[in-house]
Amino acid sequence: MADEVLLFEMAPRDGLQNEATPIPTDRKIALVDKLSACGFRKIETASFVSPKWVPQMADGAEVLAGIDRRAGTLYTALTPNMKGLERAIAAKADEVAIFASASESFSQKNINCSIAESLERFAPIVEAVRKAGLPVRGYVSCVTDCPYEGAIAPDAVAQVAADLEALGVYEVSLGDTIGQGTPESVAAMLQAVLERLPADKLAGHYHDTGGRALANIRVSLENGLRTFDASAGGLGGCPYAPGAKGNVATEAVVEMLEAEGFVTGIDQAALAEASRFARTLRATC
Ligand code: HMG
Ligand code: MG
Repeated sequence: MADEVLLFEMAPRDGLQNEATPIPTDRKIALVDKLSACGFRKIETASFVSPKWVPQMADGAEVLAGIDRRAGTLYTALTPNMKGLERAIAAKADEVAIFASASESFSQKNINCSIAESLERFAPIVEAVRKAGLPVRGYVSCVTDCPYEGAIAPDAVAQVAADLEALGVYEVSLGDTIGQGTPESVAAMLQAVLERLPADKLAGHYHDTGGRALANIRVSLENGLRTFDASAGGLGGCPYAPGAKGNVATEAVVEMLEAEGFVTGIDQAALAEASRFARTLRATC
């Protein structure tokens, strides 16, 4: 049987959230529609965070209302708190994500609370998401390195991943937020996490600042992971991780995977067009 890999497209959220100049809503909608044409099963479309913290993501409801929803694609959103969840449900997001960190400093900078406080805050959110009948995903940031603390211990990552799983997320996405991970540090991190969670509950979310994201995906494949987050055109970064570049470019991941015999189900011609369009959004900002 073919070895399938699921690619979770991040460009409309992780790709655009770091752009300083406001991108018109209709261009964000056009990006999502072009990505829908590629056949992604999941597209992170919006982020219902505080507009005071990330103004670029303030129009998430309008984006979700304006897109053409393709059957078979889930249009997902980040929700840091109950207010974000209420906005995501009202906007008809198909899936939501809570996001924690393995680094205390990054947790404070990114969501203004400690790791323990964030987990307490997420518990009622996961319960409410379940009542609403939606899937909920969890992220762990800084899985190898933190912009404020440097190297992060693999056990700290494993603990937060296990805590999120215990809250009830269906999958934990492991974020190399600043793209400093190496195949060695990613392998050490995965070894610790895999002692607590099986590979089919994990995803790799690797930023490409150091140019090693593809190598980090390879080592993750060797460890059994089959879901990866990627951003068309390599767009993105995090406003609270200075200097970090975008997620690994989706088109590069698809090319590598297909060449190695994995099946992604992505239309590469449509993806080339979506990536070209995504890069024009960055170029104009
Ligand atoms: P806070 O300031 O402690 O929260 O921020 P607050 O509850 O005191 O609220 C402050 C103001 O924001 C209030 O408005 C709230 O109503 C409003 P005011 O009363 O002053 O007029 N507010 C909201 N408005 C709309 N929607 C909301 C919302 N929440 C509060 N959901 C908070 C805490 C968590 C809200 C803030 O820190 C925040 O929004 N952080 C998000 C930062 C962010 O988006 N970072 C990037 C995404 S994470 C990432 O990129 C990493 C990832 O890709 C994985 C990886 O690469 O590692 C996922
Ligand atoms: Mg990210």
